[in-house]
Amino acid sequence: MARIVTIVGARPQFIKAATVSRAIARWNASCAGGASCGIEELIVHTGQHYDENMSEVFFGELAIPRPLVNLGVRSSRHGEQTGQMLSGIEAVLLEQSPDAVLVYGDTNSTLAGALAASKLHVPVAHVEAGLRSYNRRMPEEINRVVADHVSRWLFCPTSAAVENLRREGITADVHQVGDVMYDSVLASREVACRRSDVLRRLGLTPGGYCLATVHRAENTDDPRRLGSILAALRQIDRPVVWPLHPRTRRALGDAPGADAGRLRVIDPVSYLDMLALESHAWLVLTDSGGVQKEAFFCGVPCVTLRDETEWVELVQTGWNQVAGTETDRILEAVSRAAPGRTAAPYGDGRAAERIVSVLAGP
Ligand code: UD1
Ligand code: UDP
Repeated sequence: MARIVTIVGARPQFIKAATVSRAIARWNASCAGGASCGIEELIVHTGQHYDENMSEVFFGELAIPRPLVNLGVRSSRHGEQTGQMLSGIEAVLLEQSPDAVLVYGDTNSTLAGALAASKLHVPVAHVEAGLRSYNRRMPEEINRVVADHVSRWLFCPTSAAVENLRREGITADVHQVGDVMYDSVLASREVACRRSDVLRRLGLTPGGYCLATVHRAENTDDPRRLGSILAALRQIDRPVVWPLHPRTRRALGDAPGADAGRLRVIDPVSYLDMLALESHAWLVLTDSGGVQKEAFFCGVPCVTLRDETEWVELVQTGWNQVAGTETDRILEAVSRAAPGRTAAPYGDGRAAERIVSVLAGP
């Protein structure tokens, strides 16, 4: 039986890992050779995200197996936070001697997992490999480049990601499997729309509101950029629902105001509530990677509040406009928003299944 340690720590990683954990359970249930061909998964939570609505809610709602350990690292500067994770993960790997370490995306938890494992010669599997913004000022870009270069298996969501890796000389064990977030939306969207009462709670009309999320360091840590995003969200002539990431809440303080007119600032919501909000939105405005894609999966146009995107297919098919953060440019993009072309660049909903069959293979 292969023994795999999965490293998670931040909100989008719980959602991605949930899909693969479910595929592992299915693999084990159907495994013809019994225990000898199964996969034992041990989850390590770094503790990077820790508020109930940034962590625990996803474990409950998505029935993610309980972590073996939560390292409780919480928030600090990049070096300090990543260093504490490295040390904690190294201790777990020495104790557990896994056959592989599975990391997701591009957060500091991804970097720490990939580095700790590769230094101990434990092979690393990177899910969402090959994404690039070509902006090295983004902490995520450093994390994903390093993770890709120390990984043994590179699971790419798109052909553009495979090509990015090829340009960096990485061609061995690169698998274009599709996007696990697409698998996840296919598995959960119908349930979300049936079960979630978030629209009713917020008094929203389907198709009549915008959904916004903002958390990128380049936006939250620059008062000018954050201020002009806020100004744009206030001027949109429909209700705008804004589940506020704790980082953004800290940066904004009382700026959105208790009564901000059509702008509704709320706490972060659960995954099912988020899928329901995305599904019924007229438009999504975001700087999140995951939310850009989910808008597309739900057939909702998106305005990206960044200067570039890794998810180039969304722009090529016309579903996404990369508007930057100037108020006028955002409002112009909002006025032009329309559905794009039909396309399926993120696979067929079986990405997790393919990942598991590679990891379980000889
Ligand atoms: C991290 C990832 C980012 C990812 C995002 C997903 C890095 C470098 N960044 O950004 O790639 O898109 O997660 O949401 O890994 N905070 C809380 N409670 C929490 C978590 C965070 O209050 O449960 C606040 C703290 O003030 C903290 C700040 O948010 O300092 C930032 O948290 P951190 O995990 O460092 O980065 P994120 O901005 O969440
Ligand atoms: N999400 C959520 N509740 C929220 C905001 C986002 O469940 O209030 C989900 C969203 O549906 C997506 C993931 O979190 O699946 C995206 O995470 P985030 O935007 O924090 O990070 P990124 O994708 O940019 O790394």
